[in-house]
Amino acid sequence: MSGQALARVEGVHGEGVHEDPGGFDLLAPDGTRYRVDVTDGVLDPHNPLLAGYVEGRRVVAFVGPTVDRLYGDRLRAYLNARLEPGSWSVHTIDSGERSKTLESAERVCAIAKETGLDRHGVMLAVGGGIVADVVGFAASMYSRGIRYIKVNTTLVGQVDVGVGVKTGVNALNTKNMFGAYHPAHASLNDPALLATLPAREIRCGLAEIVKMAVILDADLFRALEEHPDAFQRSTDGAFETYVVRTSMRLMMEELCPNLREHDLARLVDFGHTFSPVIETAGGHRLEHGEAVAVDMALSAHLARLLGLLDEESCERVVNLLRRIGLPVFDPDTCTPELMTQALRASWQRRGRKLHLVVPTGIGKADFVEQLEDVPADVLRGALDALAQAGGTR
Ligand SMILES: NC(=O)c1ccc[n+]([C@@H]2O[C@H](COP(=O)([O-])OP(=O)(O)OC[C@H]3O[C@@H](n4cnc5c(N)ncnc54)[C@H](O)[C@@H]3O)[C@@H](O)[C@H]2O)c1
Ligand SMILES: [Zn+2]
Repeated sequence: MSGQALARVEGVHGEGVHEDPGGFDLLAPDGTRYRVDVTDGVLDPHNPLLAGYVEGRRVVAFVGPTVDRLYGDRLRAYLNARLEPGSWSVHTIDSGERSKTLESAERVCAIAKETGLDRHGVMLAVGGGIVADVVGFAASMYSRGIRYIKVNTTLVGQVDVGVGVKTGVNALNTKNMFGAYHPAHASLNDPALLATLPAREIRCGLAEIVKMAVILDADLFRALEEHPDAFQRSTDGAFETYVVRTSMRLMMEELCPNLREHDLARLVDFGHTFSPVIETAGGHRLEHGEAVAVDMALSAHLARLLGLLDEESCERVVNLLRRIGLPVFDPDTCTPELMTQALRASWQRRGRKLHLVVPTGIGKADFVEQLEDVPADVLRGALDALAQAGGTR
């Protein structure tokens, strides 16, 4: 645990992020507080953590089909062992970005209603970001807001979705068009669940981790350069635990003073300016983390061309993404027209300021604030540089 980091974020009233061996406590300046647990054997009936959070409450659990296949039996066995008979049920909902819809959230509410869930009850999302976002959003509207718990089963889920308070669904052709800030009653993370993740999903999680490293932590970046195959090799997991916990802590420290995004200039939006369009205009061919990787590479080249980032650092960012196996260019969507549209959409979303996050070194970043600060020829130049450097990977 880093005392230095705590000192940096801890405010006068104990606000900030406090790390302990079992996870993190966050207390935001607006009084919001929540805990993010890191635990072993979350679905082992001997592990009291999850049961402790739901004690005495009706539980309606939701899983996607894959997680149901891999962990459904264990989940049911856990709930069966730890909770009152008849007080819980498990339901499968569609997963996949195309199923992250208002209809899905409504279906979650309908299932909850059928089981008689009242305001005292709790929704349980066991899965990746999609299930967490849909169930979290459903929980935020059900009876004007009930408790929900996330058990995060993907790397993105653990380092990103699981540490924040955002929920939402896609609509009107726009990512996360409808949503709510709705902190979870508990967020449980068991690194062992990541062992079954497909390589592509690991890479997507690594994209979000690279994001944190580029903007805030040169040591983490160097560590990833040494092991771009993290989470995909057989080791004792110590390195992976360092990577996950560091990324979680950095993310929580960044989110803490600005949980509900009153300040629309957010460093953690690095990689999230062009990526929504890369995702939607590409028909979700690229996954979220892959689109974020392309966006980070593009933003790094923009920074280089704007004279904000040296050439070597730009190369290190793009090379690390490549070595992880992430795409750094997507010819179908990375056109000057679509990327200009993406800039405009971000400008609009961020209160008519661009707030484009660009690296200014490894572990450092800054904002490009105005649309005019990214001239068309610079955007074109950055896209050309990426296209020439060799296709998608
Ligand atoms: N709310 C937030 O703050 C926030 C932050 C980041 C991303 N998101 C959203 O999260 C979504 C992406 O989440 P994701 O990357 O977790 O994707 P996901 O939920 O689609 O999961 C990826 C795939 O992995 C499978 N899976 C899940 N756990 C598994 C396991 N342990 N073993 C094997 N397979 C497993 C799933 O079935 C799915 O096919 C996007 O919609 C993104 O917008 C939200
Ligand atoms: Zn993201």
